[in-house]
Amino acid sequence: MDEANMRSLWREAALECLNEACRRQYPLTEKLFACPNCGDLLSIAYEPTGEEPDAVRARWRERRLSDDPLDQSGVWRFRECLPPIAPSHVVTLREGNTPIYRARFAAQYAGVHDLLFKHLGLNPTGSFKDYGMTVAVSQARALGARILICASTGNTSASMAAYAARGGMRAIVLIPGEDVAVGKVAQALEYGAVTLQVRGANFDDVLRLVRELSARPDVYLLNSLNPFRIEGQKAILIELLDQLGWEVPEHLVVPGGNLGNSAALFKAMAELRQLGLIARWPKLTIVQAQGASPLVEAVARGAKRIRPVAQPRTHATAIRIGHPVNWKRALQALDATGGFCVAVSEEEIAEAKAAIGRDGIGCEPASAATLAAVKKLRQEGKLAPSETIVALLTGHLLKDPDYTLRYHSGQLDDVPTGRLANPPILVEPCLDTIVRYLYNGKLSA
Ligand code: F0G
Repeated sequence: MDEANMRSLWREAALECLNEACRRQYPLTEKLFACPNCGDLLSIAYEPTGEEPDAVRARWRERRLSDDPLDQSGVWRFRECLPPIAPSHVVTLREGNTPIYRARFAAQYAGVHDLLFKHLGLNPTGSFKDYGMTVAVSQARALGARILICASTGNTSASMAAYAARGGMRAIVLIPGEDVAVGKVAQALEYGAVTLQVRGANFDDVLRLVRELSARPDVYLLNSLNPFRIEGQKAILIELLDQLGWEVPEHLVVPGGNLGNSAALFKAMAELRQLGLIARWPKLTIVQAQGASPLVEAVARGAKRIRPVAQPRTHATAIRIGHPVNWKRALQALDATGGFCVAVSEEEIAEAKAAIGRDGIGCEPASAATLAAVKKLRQEGKLAPSETIVALLTGHLLKDPDYTLRYHSGQLDDVPTGRLANPPILVEPCLDTIVRYLYNGKLSA
């Protein structure tokens, strides 16, 4: 891949402050995670060139047949929509390329005719984070950064650790002292990251620490404050639409933690509309766990600001976040697209997760909040059964095996044993006993 092949649909790109009263711009080559003028978040702003949408779509399709690593990535295949980064700096694990599954059991469970899951958990490190990490780590390399740092409930750290290792950079991850899913910690260790479990701290505390550390000139921050993470995660929507033949679904349902993914999906929608690649918004529905739902609470109050939750609580540890940094863009997304903002209980998440398992799909707890929300919206009459719904499953089932075992064994605190619980059964080494399990308690069919 030569540099000339880094085509763009944009004439120019710059870092731009999200604060409407400021809107200062900075070159992409500056290492910035907040506006030096007003302190608000930065985003990447582009000027479109006006290339024909059909030609762009066709080029993206053709690249599926290519052996070039950039074309094989479900992020860099859509590089026309990304910031310009020289191919020699790109760090890729061939992320993306995640499947869409039609789920029959889950659709019936939620009371809808049809339900599609796009399983972002089937990425190289098992979560959607890889979509954003490939772009932000490539930018880190282009800037000559040597130390990569993040705060994480587990998936960001697993992903950053892998991409840092691929790119030959040092990775330092800070995670809460307790309740990070075991699969995620194991990944960070295996990929060689320095893994700091911060005693007594939750995600919001840890994020405050890494934001301070990122002021050091040699340290590069990889949380979703980093605008290049958001750019990569736009590819989730682009890839989804490419897979659906550019038929825009009525609803897109996503779990919300730090709300980076909600911000990225909304940015992608806005840009695809601007480029003439789609004509209308899908409604973006954002789902939080009841014990960590500052966005839902703000929407319910009709407020323009969130009130942070000091002690967020949920077994879905990926989204145990009380002070999400991307809340402003999430509110805009709900407003612009007409999506819902939903809180679901621990019991609803746990049961929905088991239902997704029954389709042979499976996911981690935070991802299952999406199905719980679809079921709830349907029960409340806010969704018609025939509407087209795509729910994003953000993490792999094996990220959090403890949760799954506890659910099926009836040992998940505050969650009664559900009808989908399927505990392991201890048996004697006796054929007759075992045969009964083949035939539902009898000795033959
Ligand atoms: N689902 C999973 C599996 C996650 O790991 C996360 C966030 C979310 C949903 C929420 O996404 O923050 O973009 O709203 N995990 C982060 C982490 C916070 O550190 O791994 P968001």
